[in-house]
Amino acid sequence: KITVRYSDGTEKRLSVSEDQTILEAAEASGVPIVNECQSGICGTCVGNCTSGSYELGRTEGLSEQERSTRKLLACQARVRSDCVIELAYPANANAARLVAGEAMLESVELVSNSTAILRIDASNLGEKLSYQPGQFAQLMVPGTGLWRSYSYAHVANDENRLEFIIRLLPQGAMSDYLRLRARAGDRIQLRGSKGRFYLREATRPVVLMAGGTGLSAILAIAEQLSRDGCTQPVHLYYGVSRYEDLCKLDALKKLGDACPGLALHTVVAEPDPRWKGATGLITDLLDVGDLNGGDVDVYLCGPPAMVEAVRRWFDARGMHNITLYYEKFVPTG
Ligand code: FES
Repeated sequence: KITVRYSDGTEKRLSVSEDQTILEAAEASGVPIVNECQSGICGTCVGNCTSGSYELGRTEGLSEQERSTRKLLACQARVRSDCVIELAYPANANAARLVAGEAMLESVELVSNSTAILRIDASNLGEKLSYQPGQFAQLMVPGTGLWRSYSYAHVANDENRLEFIIRLLPQGAMSDYLRLRARAGDRIQLRGSKGRFYLREATRPVVLMAGGTGLSAILAIAEQLSRDGCTQPVHLYYGVSRYEDLCKLDALKKLGDACPGLALHTVVAEPDPRWKGATGLITDLLDVGDLNGGDVDVYLCGPPAMVEAVRRWFDARGMHNITLYYEKFVPTG
């Protein structure tokens, strides 16, 4: 038996067979565990095993520190005795009803050969897509049965007009579709919304960090903070590999103008004569003075290497008061 305990104290018990992963058993019993890649990479399905024994399976989605503190990936781990698994979100975190249906592609803006902005009109779903800023929807690549997950780049709206910032790979079902075949008016299957990465109440200063197209989720969170009239200082860090991957700078500036407590820091890794701002990695821009002595909530969405680099940066400075919410963004093409 497995007991799943949520952050709001709700407990659910479920049976599991030896060959089932925890996630398989949970899904078979209708017990929600937030997940995404189901292949041990993204870290979305992380839980903390507070009693019992288990086998980890694949662990790319966990840091060494997480492994040593009995964190496991529900999509990979199998229990070897009765176990209690704690999850860092309430039982209704994914209660936003899953809405699914056919939407229409409005436009694709190819920002660079590795970044695109996809706009979708989902007004005919018949139901508002409700979600927390930071969460994601899944889109089926037209003409295939393949689903891909993308974070909304804005807060929910009544019209279901959607925008996603998408990482393009040199090859991949969605990347090829967006680059070569996508046309305004194409029908596209959509289901949403999901994700354990979302904005919590801002009771102390906030740091937002976006690596590449991780900006999508961070934009939604920043927009919500601005709408809420957040009075806490907010530092938003946005880093890309190459100058041409920069996008949404106008939207960021608008947010900065609307929210006086919001400070923007943008950095490009590869030196480029067209770029007049900072060059380097996000961690090069981090300044202890902006982190309120570590008394901050950090929301970080970026590739796994960036998430780990930021975590190491905080650890090296003894900033153990930080609450780090992160989404390891694993492009699937
Ligand atoms: Fe388990 Fe991605 S869903 S690691």
